[in-house]
Amino acid sequence: MTTILGISAFYHDSAAALIKDGNIIAAAQEERFTRKKHDANYPFKAVEYVLKEGNLKLNQIDHIVFFEKPFLKFERLLETYLAFAPRGFKSFSMSMPIWLREKLFQKKYLFDHLKKHDENFSDINRIKFSEHHYSHAASAFFPSPFKDSIILTLDGVGEWATTTVAIGKENELQILKEIHFPHSLGLLYSAFTYYTGFKVNSGEYKVMGLAPYGKPKFKDLIIKNLMDLKEDGSFRLNMKYFSFATGLTMTNKKFTDLFGEPVRDPSKDKLTQFHMDIAASIQAVTEEVVLRISKSLAREYKINNLCLAGGVALNCVANGKILKDNFFKKIWIQPAAGDAGGSLGAALAYWHNELKMPRKEFKDQMKGSYLGPKFENDHIENELKSLKANFKKYSYSDLIALVAKELSNEKTVGWFQGRMEFGPRALGGRSILADPRSEKMQKELNLKIKFRESFRPFAPSVLREDINEWFELDHDSPYMLLVAEVKKNKQLKMKKEEEDLFGIDKLNVKRSNIPAITHVDYSARIQTVHKDTNPRYYDLINEFKKNTNCPVLVNTSFNVRGEPIVCSIEDAFNCFMGTNLDILVIEDFVLFKNLQDQTLLKDYKNKFELD
Ligand SMILES: [Fe+2]
Repeated sequence: MTTILGISAFYHDSAAALIKDGNIIAAAQEERFTRKKHDANYPFKAVEYVLKEGNLKLNQIDHIVFFEKPFLKFERLLETYLAFAPRGFKSFSMSMPIWLREKLFQKKYLFDHLKKHDENFSDINRIKFSEHHYSHAASAFFPSPFKDSIILTLDGVGEWATTTVAIGKENELQILKEIHFPHSLGLLYSAFTYYTGFKVNSGEYKVMGLAPYGKPKFKDLIIKNLMDLKEDGSFRLNMKYFSFATGLTMTNKKFTDLFGEPVRDPSKDKLTQFHMDIAASIQAVTEEVVLRISKSLAREYKINNLCLAGGVALNCVANGKILKDNFFKKIWIQPAAGDAGGSLGAALAYWHNELKMPRKEFKDQMKGSYLGPKFENDHIENELKSLKANFKKYSYSDLIALVAKELSNEKTVGWFQGRMEFGPRALGGRSILADPRSEKMQKELNLKIKFRESFRPFAPSVLREDINEWFELDHDSPYMLLVAEVKKNKQLKMKKEEEDLFGIDKLNVKRSNIPAITHVDYSARIQTVHKDTNPRYYDLINEFKKNTNCPVLVNTSFNVRGEPIVCSIEDAFNCFMGTNLDILVIEDFVLFKNLQDQTLLKDYKNKFELD
């Protein structure tokens, strides 16, 4: 048996993944264990976890593969510095000491960390390095159901590449084209994330969520001034408007002059229609680029399948449009599309590319992305007792019936079942669930449970066989990475005066029979639920459907704003006691809020740093 440990770290979202003879055994992000969102440190706890899941000591691991090459990245920093000097000096001198201390000597640095898992580990030559985009591409292609595919990776920046096109055939994967730093769609999007007052590297979702409230008034302005966009989707950024290569911010004065307003200060400036129009515009530009690229690739290579990874692949609105435009028959997106997924990609790249091992079968290998820790009932019972929780154990069928009924009574449920998800989405393992038919639910969930902005949309989980009856989509979307409209006959058209309401005010207009998951442009970010990958969640939704004729639930991640998704029983209990959640379900155990010792309630609202 050959065991490979993949690691991504030191940029953002550190993670570890373990494969045995090419089978994915476990994968998890460090943030879930340390409770520090996007934790970028060496993923000590994630490595410990995957080793435990695989029943291995570190010394038994055959190959340890890091997701990128430190020297290539160093070279980029150095050359960026030279190209932009002296303007570049500030950013360079800020990052330099860290590089000298940690990254430049990464093999030894990694080795020292690895030794802490197992003092018998002594063979530094077992440490190998993949390349950033190759790791992304491998994470997108090798676990996909496709025998052959085009693989597109788009993200902020890895070593040099920001966009790559690869072709995968069976166990071979080859990168054919690259766009290099600083010309990056991810960084362009991040520049607008910064400009609208959100945090770069995590606020991109918010910009995407804000976009439907605005009109893409600045789309042409962006394409004309900020970039040189070719017909085939390749592009160069006009660096006169940006400062990410040289400074510590994303944009400069020329940029703010172009749009006419200063960078929004989230501590005092409210979101206005201007910011929504900006969000709509950069979203439209992103879609334009992604669609041009996919169209030209489909024409050039005449392959029906497309795989996506890299941070921009989490832009599910753009993904939905690629599918809708029919350039490709099928799309598969790595659920851990960001850098965390690079750990898995690095391990799989080594197995197939270096060791030349064949792929076993051509079906989705991610196991629903349920690749993290799971807890047994005995352990849960002990934990709940020590937390002084009031709980009751139910039989399977009673539990499903109870939770489905409570959901239909507008109760909100923390749903903690099976293995934790790998990647940024909760998919029914660590989720908060609610009734999508409820008109008050979007606001309630945002303000009283997630403690976040009221405009943030919620996503639906739907039984796979019912998707086409409820949404304008007939395609698997197990990882919640495709957006499509709520079915036309379920939409409630807005009146003219409602259409003209200022962005967020539209939230009060009922838009469909499932308003809690219908965005103001009637779109929804859909997760299809499959009986074979998550039977328990499937049965719950099915029971809810029997009661209500609605095979859809609201599914949002089990956390509050700024907090990593819950991982352990204690995390789940804390989050439950710190929010307005009504019910917590952990495997076979059910906890009602009103039956808990009220002195255990927590002040959770301000516990986490704003993201
Ligand atoms: Fe990346």
